Amino acid sequence: MVNFRVGPGGLVAGELTVPGDKSISHRALMLGGIARGVTDITGFLAGEDCLATLRALQSLGVRIERPEEQHVIVHGVGPRGLHGASTPLDMGNAGTAMRLSMGLLAPQSFNSTLIGDESLMRRPMERVAAPLRQMGAEIGTQNGRPPVEIRGNRQMHGIDYELPVASAQVKSAVLLAGLQAAGITRVTEPAPTRDHTERMLRAFGAKVGQQGATASIEGGQTLTGTDIAVPADFSSAAFFLVAGCLAAQKPLLLRNVGINPTRTGLLELLLQMGADIKVHAHPNAADAEPIADLEIRRSGLRGIQVSEHLVPLSIDEFPVFFIAAACAEGETLVRGAEELRVKETDRLAAMADGLTALGVENHLYPDGLWIRGGTGFNGGTIDSRGDHRIAMAFAVASLRSRGEIEILDVANVATSFPGFVEIARAAGLKIETA
Ligand code: S3P
Repeated sequence: MVNFRVGPGGLVAGELTVPGDKSISHRALMLGGIARGVTDITGFLAGEDCLATLRALQSLGVRIERPEEQHVIVHGVGPRGLHGASTPLDMGNAGTAMRLSMGLLAPQSFNSTLIGDESLMRRPMERVAAPLRQMGAEIGTQNGRPPVEIRGNRQMHGIDYELPVASAQVKSAVLLAGLQAAGITRVTEPAPTRDHTERMLRAFGAKVGQQGATASIEGGQTLTGTDIAVPADFSSAAFFLVAGCLAAQKPLLLRNVGINPTRTGLLELLLQMGADIKVHAHPNAADAEPIADLEIRRSGLRGIQVSEHLVPLSIDEFPVFFIAAACAEGETLVRGAEELRVKETDRLAAMADGLTALGVENHLYPDGLWIRGGTGFNGGTIDSRGDHRIAMAFAVASLRSRGEIEILDVANVATSFPGFVEIARAAGLKIETA
């Protein structure tokens, strides 16, 4: 088992660039695969999750070149060019790969089977299968979980669908199926979620409507290959945003970070807590993914009550947000975040257990967490439960700990943040792989 050992205290400073955005890298591969012509992806996230999508597309007949780690060239096969894979498609740890692939593959002429690692095989897939079935798809799950068995059906049709949960993965799967179904598909979300699919479909030349909370797409449109420059992942930058708030006596600068407003809830939360973060936005085309350099200085943080509308906008950042909350003066409360229970692990339980192990008073709710902050952390041992974001969050906690923190089972950090240890060490964390 791979573990981290992180020494207590220290300061962070300097300039760093975190790897490319995971959500955008998955989508660039998939849309590139079914587009006509070549898609040139730079800044690609060479993490295990996106490599699972890359390998799946190769098994479906897409030729993909990788002249450099982060430079990928996809030779699109066009809307009818995929062929069935001879073995099940293994999506590893990647929920996005599996759920978006369901929407991509249900309207094909061949059958597919989707599997994943132990964590992914426990995650709910009916939330995607149900709307796709309404569109005519034939999809089987095992009590709602993978393996997902898809019997391809070219005759799918558009629907009007109201998402019961605020999930960008479900929205995206329905839109990808809608692209290949007859008529118009409309998806209405209960709260805004990341809109990378809508933006990227437009970048590939598709028309995607947006009226209030409803995105719509007409089936039968052909995508055209394009160039995609993937920004640095805000969700990976998040660990250093919090590290900077806790320990940047001199400024910490994060370069080229994607600041799509459907992703930056954590920025808002940290500013509400009293963080000193400056956003230096780059000039951008209107529909492109917005990018900025983020400059962070240490500041005293205050506990807050998190507004529920910010939960989907910071959904992947809660592990490290809870670390910030544990360092803030006073109490912090998050409710309405039950989705955290069905991520790579149950992130509410994993964080509550880890905080308790390090001496931080907390209370776990079915849909949230209360934390009394300001006491700092004792040293101790954390079980990351194989969840990349739990592992990296507790590495950041070391900046305010009184003893060494050992973090168990961290190999999956490579799913989203290859090179985390080297970048964290360059920033000032006393981290080692053990
Ligand atoms: C993602 C959507 C979110 C997020 C995940 C990536 C995406 O999941 O947690 O890491 O790329 O669409 P949900 O749609 O389940 O909220």
